[in-house]
Amino acid sequence: MDQSNKKVLITGGAGFIGSHVVRLFVTKHPDYAIYNLDALTYAGNLENIKDLESFGNYNFIKADINEADSIKKLFLEHEFDAVIHLAAESHVDRSITNPNDFIETNVLGTANLLNAFREVHKDAYEGKLFYHVSTDEVYGSLGKTGLFTETTSYDPQSPYASSKAASDHIVRAYGNTYGLPFVISNCSNNYGANQFPEKLIPLFINNIKQSKPLPVYGDGNYTRDWLYVEDHAIAIDQIFHQGTVGETYNIGGFNEWTNLNLIKLLCQLMDEKLDRPKGNSEKLITYVKDRAGHDRRYAIDANKINKELGWKPSVTFEEGLEKTLDWYLANDEWLKNVTTGAYQDYYDKMYS
Ligand code: NAD
Ligand code: DAU
Repeated sequence: MDQSNKKVLITGGAGFIGSHVVRLFVTKHPDYAIYNLDALTYAGNLENIKDLESFGNYNFIKADINEADSIKKLFLEHEFDAVIHLAAESHVDRSITNPNDFIETNVLGTANLLNAFREVHKDAYEGKLFYHVSTDEVYGSLGKTGLFTETTSYDPQSPYASSKAASDHIVRAYGNTYGLPFVISNCSNNYGANQFPEKLIPLFINNIKQSKPLPVYGDGNYTRDWLYVEDHAIAIDQIFHQGTVGETYNIGGFNEWTNLNLIKLLCQLMDEKLDRPKGNSEKLITYVKDRAGHDRRYAIDANKINKELGWKPSVTFEEGLEKTLDWYLANDEWLKNVTTGAYQDYYDKMYS
């Protein structure tokens, strides 16, 4: 869609993926006014977007999508033309301990945004768009073969996945019922700079640095399809501008790894970077109790976005991983700041 001189609201822009999406939009589209709305939960960090503060087209709004009245007020005040919705509770393990947080933010929070979008545009949507960012976890778990396509039936298995699935359904229902123009994308596992060290890759990087045990869930033979976060941001930009309203696009890395193989590669690269003897970090691998209801395998068929919009990952896994490790090693302060206080409590509860 053409959004020249329009106001684009991006939610969750202080988080991992959101920070990369905001940066791409602020720098690539100077004619848009970008509003980054974030509640700054444990996962939101203004350090992730500090470099954008001096840009004239960038605005930050601290707000909670669960507060329906404040959200409505903000929409009435700014009359956003488009929304790119990333704000969410995003960690599967936390959804197992606190499912209601996920239902509230991911389901009701999304509904609050949709209601505010309707209210401000009064169901007259020429040139407007609601872009909902979702996950491949809505499709459930794959066996040894097969890929998730856009028509795979939903079969979410964790409280996180089911809250995202519910939000996808609600977005589509508003499209069908009220004519609200939407697009949805469902992406595979992201990695890269700014990812909170509760997720596999940054958690293991941090532990390797500190020579702490590497907690592998179950037998470690779970498969994920990894995508470099900046490539996800590029895909979102392309779908936002060239995607067809009402459509869904799967985004993935064509890049499946079992956790164990990925962890071994990570250990090898970290040993090289930290000048440690070969095999040193692998000794830290510790098998721990499995995640409840752990999905065995995710893998995305990203041929639709590839064929229709010409998108494909721009970096190989080896290149992306190297950039990621270099970023975490160069940003020791960032890592220290997010792993003190509440993080230690979380870690002790989760892994003791
Ligand atoms: P994240 O946890 O790093 O960031 C989430 C952001 O949302 C944080 O800045 C947080 O402060 C904000 N937020 C949380 N609750 C909020 C609320 N009530 N109001 C306003 N802001 C709130 O998450 P992420 O990994 O960057 O994921 C972003 C989105 O992409 C999510 O919707 C997630 O489901 C989806 N996604 C993530 C991945 C992945 O691999 N990380 C893959 C596919 C899809
Ligand atoms: O597939 C997309 C999803 O990817 C996103 O929607 C989620 O927001 C994101 O968190 C991610 O979910 P996963 O559960 O796949 O990611 P996580 O990094 O938590 O775990 C990746 C794999 O590593 C998974 O099989 C569990 C395993 N794992 C994870 C942690 C944190 C371990 O073995 N040990 C760990 O300590």
